[in-house]
Amino acid sequence: MERGYKRHLQAIEIYKPGKPLDEVRREYGLDRIVKLASNENPFGPSPLAVEAMRKAATQVHMYPDGPCTQLRSALAEKLKLPEEWFIFTNGSNELIELLCGAYLRRGEKAILPHPTFSVYYNAVTAQEGEKVIVPLCEDFSFDVKAIVDSIDSNTRIVFISNPNNPTGTYMNTEGIKAILSKLPDEGLVFMDEAYAEFVEASDYPSGSELLKNDHRIVVSRTFSKAYGLAGLRIGYGIARPEVIEGLERLRQPFNVNAMAQAAALAALRDEEHLKKTVENNRTEKIRLVKALEGLGLRPVASQANFILVDTGYSGEEIFALLLQKGVIVRYLGPELPTHIRVTIGTPEENDFFLSALRSVLESMGT
Ligand SMILES: Cc1ncc(COP(=O)(O)O)c(C=O)c1O
Repeated sequence: MERGYKRHLQAIEIYKPGKPLDEVRREYGLDRIVKLASNENPFGPSPLAVEAMRKAATQVHMYPDGPCTQLRSALAEKLKLPEEWFIFTNGSNELIELLCGAYLRRGEKAILPHPTFSVYYNAVTAQEGEKVIVPLCEDFSFDVKAIVDSIDSNTRIVFISNPNNPTGTYMNTEGIKAILSKLPDEGLVFMDEAYAEFVEASDYPSGSELLKNDHRIVVSRTFSKAYGLAGLRIGYGIARPEVIEGLERLRQPFNVNAMAQAAALAALRDEEHLKKTVENNRTEKIRLVKALEGLGLRPVASQANFILVDTGYSGEEIFALLLQKGVIVRYLGPELPTHIRVTIGTPEENDFFLSALRSVLESMGT
């Protein structure tokens, strides 16, 4: 018998989270830290969600409602879809794992536009699927033709982060339809709509609409981004009941905790908080892009709540220098050596970031 864990798991990088804020504060002797690294809601959770959690806290001696009955019914009503088309998960990350666990057999292909969200690669590797890497175009848009060309009879899952993390670029309805026209009947398109609330493009496809006419779509949504509940870990999938069935068989009975369910239900009803979040993102995105361009940098056009920007310098160095000034952004590794990704914050946070960036760039001799 082979010793230790399964050998193929060695290909999975252990996730390295950023340093805890307190540690950064102590290490650099900082008064203020602005975290713009994980695409969280800069306004925090909805006050209604916080209130709902307070109430739910008194009941946590009991197991949560496994099927998330109330949230299910609220979303089914909102999206005008049957309740059986939903599955609730411990963050949408869990949905990605369930999808690969239930549908991707060893050696079957998963198509990954590249670069994209890291969790997809790991979920495919964990199931010993074959990763078909399809680079984005030079301007970071999806290369729809190359994606379609790479589909064959052994293709099981096509991952489309829409908008894409870390680029913020999106695929339009036409692109999704081109993929569906080539995809085998047993294939699935994973439409990850983690940032959908922020999208402004008029030709942005609605996964849940397309799903009405095509059983090969799995839509992923989360409460971590626009709804400001990342710390609670709650997301959901929408798919046809025959697809949901496979996912449900793998799901832990009580995968979504009670506080998360209560908060998500309240957050869903707080339209004002969502509106404020989306509106801030819209106006601040315009301002940030202009300011970044003014600094001589090249931001990528984004439909999400973050901006990928080419600094022209080492992204790792810029990241480290910004950190010393109390701004945490994301460096994306050697494949994007001169870029950083920055979450769009409140006007004050963005000013703090811009002033730190300006001084970092000055120190580098621009
Ligand atoms: C494209 C994409 N999908 C999913 C997630 C994960 O979301 P959750 O917090 O729901 O697991 C993220 C988070 O960064 C993301 O960028």
